[in-house]
Amino acid sequence: MLEDMTAQMHDGFDQLAREAVYRAMFTRRDVRSHFTSETIDDEVLARLLLAAHHAPSVGFMQPWNFIVIRDAARRAEVRDLFLAAREQELPAIEAERQALYRKLKLEGICESALNICITCDRERSQGSPLGRFHNPQMDLYSTVCAVQNFWLAARAEGVGVGWVSIIEAQALKDLLSIPEHVTPIAYLCVGRVSQFAPKPDLETQGWGRRLPLPELIMSETFRGQGEASLKSATARLNGVAAVPPSPASQRVAPAVPQREPPKEASALSFNSLNFDDASASRASQAGSGTWPSMVLK
Ligand SMILES: Cc1cc2nc3c(=O)[nH]c(=O)nc-3n(C[C@H](O)[C@H](O)[C@H](O)COP(=O)(O)O)c2cc1C
Repeated sequence: MLEDMTAQMHDGFDQLAREAVYRAMFTRRDVRSHFTSETIDDEVLARLLLAAHHAPSVGFMQPWNFIVIRDAARRAEVRDLFLAAREQELPAIEAERQALYRKLKLEGICESALNICITCDRERSQGSPLGRFHNPQMDLYSTVCAVQNFWLAARAEGVGVGWVSIIEAQALKDLLSIPEHVTPIAYLCVGRVSQFAPKPDLETQGWGRRLPLPELIMSETFRGQGEASLKSATARLNGVAAVPPSPASQRVAPAVPQREPPKEASALSFNSLNFDDASASRASQAGSGTWPSMVLK
């Protein structure tokens, strides 16, 4: 099957396939709250792991392992690690945001069907660190690519994934008997869900907003001005007006932008701020210049 798929891929995907790829990306969510009690079929889980295993990796090192954690008692212990870590993180949060931080649901460790810890074996290159001589951290980045493949494939399969990073790494290593030379990269809560939220939970709950893409694009050098046409194109896709570069916005992108999205944002369906399955299906039924056909021209 994989060989057939690869053979067809010399010239981009057909439109339906492209739409599916973008749809997975724009409707993927970090899931914490909507897990159901349904189990995940091993055939489905196998496909997700195969997708992860086809991620790019430095020197084709494939430094990952996938620890599947189903045992309820072990998961309760991981959750205790999360609760302890959250208490330790709290003082680092701005005083006026601490009450909101406490209210956020930041894990679904026990209520998801299973957990998966994706690890990076830092010694797998066996003494030939192709691509890692100057940048030894590239094996960690490679493993993150595997996480993202898993996450996107899961979305396509209707499986929710929530990444829990609020855990002290050494405590997790001890609990899961992870050897010294192996780094836990992602602790994932995985399960069938009742819904994929239309926006990030942290946006819905007022923690943050998606930054305007044109303000993140630079030209030639860091903070380099220019690329007006490209910025306008990205702004059009996102349904927001292109923002002329102001000295302030070029200096630093705000952690939580204060600017409200303009009203017309919701009229365009290709809008990562409010994209959802309903708007995707409306757009494809309409066959109009809205998402996804607009993106794929
Ligand atoms: C490296 C990484 C670590 C994360 N850690 C957590 C976490 O500990 N708890 C949590 O609720 N979400 C975590 N998330 C999910 C983000 O909060 C989420 O991706 C972001 O709010 C955007 O929402 P979306 O993924 O639904 O688009 C993490 C995401 C990444 C990429």
